[in-house]
Amino acid sequence: MATDKPHMNLAVIGHIDHGKSTTVGRLMFETGAVPAHIIENFRKEAESKGKGSFEFAWVMDNLKEERERGITIDIAHKRFDTAKFYFTVVDCPGHRDFVKNMITGASQADAAILVVAAPDGVMEQTKEHVFLARTLGITQLVIAVNKMDAVNYDQKRFDEVKKELTQLIGMVGYKAADILFIPMSSFKGVNIAKKSPETPWYNGPTLLEALDTFKEPEKPTDKPFRLPIQDVYSISGIGTVPVGRIETGIMKKGMKVSFMPANKDGEIKSIEMHHEEQPQALPGDNVGFNVRGVGKNDIRRGDVCGPADVPPTVADEFTAQIVVLQHPSAITVGYTPVFHCHTAQIACTFVELKKKLDPRSGQTKEENPTFLKSGDAAIVQIKPSRPMVIESVKEIPQLGRFAIRDMGTTIAAGMCIAVQPKQMIR
Ligand code: GTP
Ligand code: MG
Repeated sequence: MATDKPHMNLAVIGHIDHGKSTTVGRLMFETGAVPAHIIENFRKEAESKGKGSFEFAWVMDNLKEERERGITIDIAHKRFDTAKFYFTVVDCPGHRDFVKNMITGASQADAAILVVAAPDGVMEQTKEHVFLARTLGITQLVIAVNKMDAVNYDQKRFDEVKKELTQLIGMVGYKAADILFIPMSSFKGVNIAKKSPETPWYNGPTLLEALDTFKEPEKPTDKPFRLPIQDVYSISGIGTVPVGRIETGIMKKGMKVSFMPANKDGEIKSIEMHHEEQPQALPGDNVGFNVRGVGKNDIRRGDVCGPADVPPTVADEFTAQIVVLQHPSAITVGYTPVFHCHTAQIACTFVELKKKLDPRSGQTKEENPTFLKSGDAAIVQIKPSRPMVIESVKEIPQLGRFAIRDMGTTIAAGMCIAVQPKQMIR
């Protein structure tokens, strides 16, 4: 596949069973990323296990396992090309804890497809995912109104769902006028790669055409180098090999680097991507790299690698702007849920509720509120329970966004607006 096309990380989001995996499988099939005979094998296998109609979803699920089994960081399998871009699908459909996955997926995504099943319309996770996508900084969105075959390709039903969705996305700050809504069927292949006769009333683009209306993301190469660690391996004959995705800056062979908050220094001996050695790597690249001077147990997932002379910022405390998605009672000072920021998951305490904001205008509604509840936006002061790398969104937006989770649900999402750094003894 051509690599001269610009690259996009694509999150596929939406309510459970609305057809995310099927849509990805279908896209890979229609673009030739998965050959027809493989789909046919999946169909036979799915049928023999009493799961007929899951063949496209199985494409994704199989690859996901493959990905999780080894240390391979090759993303070629989950990649497909359109006329303009090559896409990497960053979510893992079918994951048990989908929302959590969605957070890590979305925080890496340049754009998203929101899949909504026409028979159901807007459901709980539809709302949650749209909210998260917006808060985590996904500005480009295409909406797939899927399973149109299950409503006889009825224009009236499509218009109803579109209306519901327009209201929802408007609430979180997307402009409906900027967003394409596509009536389609992933399962039947309607309006995915070609305009289909089933929807004579629809004159808009197919899903593939819609994806090509996305704007190419700018690579933040002018920012300091930052790579949050996903995993660390020790490979015999090579040494310590952390893996992760470059968020900002340029990574170069021979570079002196620091891992924070581990506070370990090393030198990059080699960089590998798509099973090939590279002299350098750029934002968006998933890489494995070998570092001299750092042991496997010195660093771990959640640490961030940066240049030794501009190391990642470790927060003693930070100031954040958050939006509360749902909380069974109320958030008060002392509350300590888990913050998911880049690859880190760290319990953090609300030490001060500074202001309540109007979520639409950003104006102050109340100084020093005593509590925050669902739907509130606020400026708060946060103290991590242990050292944590976070950057202000003004400096490095890619490392300034987070989601807050407690008891298996997402409580809030937000961004860091100022860091009070911890002094590291170097
Ligand atoms: P989770 O990963 O569990 O959240 O589900 P998902 O959103 O990935 O849904 P998946 O692709 O696994 O599809 C769920 C079911 O819906 C399967 O039985 C699919 O065959 C079916 N399905 C998907 N797309 C369509 C469609 O366009 N039309 C119809 N009728 N069924 C579909
Ligand atoms: Mg799925």
